[in-house]
Amino acid sequence: MKHLLKLSDLSPAEFTEILDLADKLKYERKNGIQHHILKGKTLGMIFRKSSTRTRVSFEVGMYELGGQGLFLSSNDLQIGRGEDTADTIRVLSRYLDGIMIRTFDQSEVEEMAAVGSIPIINGLTDYAHPCQVLADLMTIREYKGSLEGKKLTFIGDGNNMANSLIVGCIKCGMEVAIACPDNYKPDSDIIAWAEKNGKFTCTPNIMEAAKGADVLYTDVWASMGQEGEAAKRRIAFEGYQINADVCAQANDGVMVLHCLPAHKGEEITADVFEAHANEIFDEAENRLHAQKAVMVLLMK
Ligand code: CP
Ligand code: NVA
Repeated sequence: MKHLLKLSDLSPAEFTEILDLADKLKYERKNGIQHHILKGKTLGMIFRKSSTRTRVSFEVGMYELGGQGLFLSSNDLQIGRGEDTADTIRVLSRYLDGIMIRTFDQSEVEEMAAVGSIPIINGLTDYAHPCQVLADLMTIREYKGSLEGKKLTFIGDGNNMANSLIVGCIKCGMEVAIACPDNYKPDSDIIAWAEKNGKFTCTPNIMEAAKGADVLYTDVWASMGQEGEAAKRRIAFEGYQINADVCAQANDGVMVLHCLPAHKGEEITADVFEAHANEIFDEAENRLHAQKAVMVLLMK
């Protein structure tokens, strides 16, 4: 593994390697065992979009690994004023040991990896959110003991989260069902891949998709960059919500996950959110551990 651009680049063995190391780092942190594996290294963190979890977990993660994270808002960098991504990455490759970038186009992340000479980590694009899904898989494994054969149902927009969940879960041997309106399906190439390589369904029928689920997952109806479509999307996604009726379709002991931030009353009811708050905030915590594992494997 040279970069983390999208989950389709990873082999099943690499998923296991990341998740096992994440568990180990979590255990060490809980037990006060220092792990300065990246002593003296610096990660640049470029943000073209807002963030709470990604920014803080990467910065704290680098600190705990003995290195440092450098927060670089695109508002302050010259790329915000039009400097080429290719020039920026060739400069930053001279200073840094790795870059995490949150941006709009997946092509920008891929270009950085092609032109730069240091590891690139995708901290969310419109297409994918691989770091989030590694934390999600870690959390599911913690609660359910294993991933193989478990069913995850995603309800809502066929967005970056849906795309990465499909790939990550199927690569780890899980079954995936997506419930979304017909006009808001996940990426068509990812759907075609999933249909060929795993147990996968995509339907507008929420109750059907939720049947037999071990994990129910949702995300906002309007992602970052889609704020102008929020009103239209509120109509399109009406009913695409995790609520008590949807949970009743799922298996006993179903987990409910949300990448956050949540819009309670839209994609999830407040009562279901609170009933599953332990899982959801463990999931948020696991961003830290999973990303530390990724950084160690890429930057050591
Ligand atoms: N889930 C997630 O990536 O959160 P942030 O947008 O706060 O980083
Ligand atoms: N789909 C959401 C995920 C946020 C973590 C977005 O892109 O805004």
